[in-house]
Amino acid sequence: MIRVGLVGYGKAGKAVASVLAQDERFELCWIARRSNKPTATEIPVTRLDKATFPDWLASHPVDAVVDFSDSEAVLDYGEAIRQHGLMLVSAISSYSPETLAYIRELGREIRVMSSPNITLGINFLMLAARLLRSIAPFADVGIVEQHFRDKSEVSGTAKRIAKTLEVDEEEITSLRLGGIIGHHEVIFGFPHQTVRMIHDSIRREAFGTGAAFALSLLATRPAGYYSYEELLLDMMRQELQRGGGQQPVDA
Ligand SMILES: NC(=O)c1ccc[n+]([C@@H]2O[C@H](COP(=O)([O-])OP(=O)(O)OC[C@H]3O[C@@H](n4cnc5c(N)ncnc54)[C@H](OP(=O)(O)O)[C@@H]3O)[C@@H](O)[C@H]2O)c1
Repeated sequence: MIRVGLVGYGKAGKAVASVLAQDERFELCWIARRSNKPTATEIPVTRLDKATFPDWLASHPVDAVVDFSDSEAVLDYGEAIRQHGLMLVSAISSYSPETLAYIRELGREIRVMSSPNITLGINFLMLAARLLRSIAPFADVGIVEQHFRDKSEVSGTAKRIAKTLEVDEEEITSLRLGGIIGHHEVIFGFPHQTVRMIHDSIRREAFGTGAAFALSLLATRPAGYYSYEELLLDMMRQELQRGGGQQPVDA
């Protein structure tokens, strides 16, 4: 069983906590957040503080930290997890170049996975789309993203897909409609056929299953800095070599 500490208990963190708490492969040992807000959970909660975190960790040992907080939190807990040799799964969407460099440096000594897209589905879609793009570079490619009415910016995931497929960001079609959580679609237009790859986010719990998937793969790796795509690609290679798709994945 992997003992986990969760940093961040907001919209995503709460859903991640509920998934990890119900998964028998993990023991969710504590939650750290920025404030002292009352937290309706029986799991021990602490306010993340750089000065006191080493003591907290010593009295609440874990094997891994999962981060759904903000881009600066790692600067408060990074040295402590390095000293304890813990794994880190970070879902933070965007880091400054300096903080990203710091996280990559942590990967020299501990196992680190950092990904702005932590769902299995989106990462699988990106790998599959990249593969088809390389097999059929002549096909037209369109990217469509749909989100809730109030999302103002173009989806970062759609931009990442565009970059992966070498499609101009300007070509992304964005629709803002009602309460759509997240829809990404890659369309390959061939002369006589069309291929559509679609990912729909249904609930934030998908971030929890994504983090669990990353933790279980990271646990088998040596120290290093990994992306979700790398971990998934290695697993896909192994599956294909074995004959493919024999074992179900809870994702
Ligand atoms: N990779 C992915 O697929 C993915 C998916 C979803 C979310 N995310 C990322 O996850 C992060 C959280 O998203 P969210 O929607 O849950 O945000 P949110 O609702 O604002 O929650 C943020 C949480 O982080 C805590 N926090 C903020 N700064 C902290 C710090 N310095 N130290 C410790 N805790 C801190 C907050 O503490 P308080 O509760 O005390 O205020 C809160 O619990 C964002 O970076 C988001 O982009 C990534």
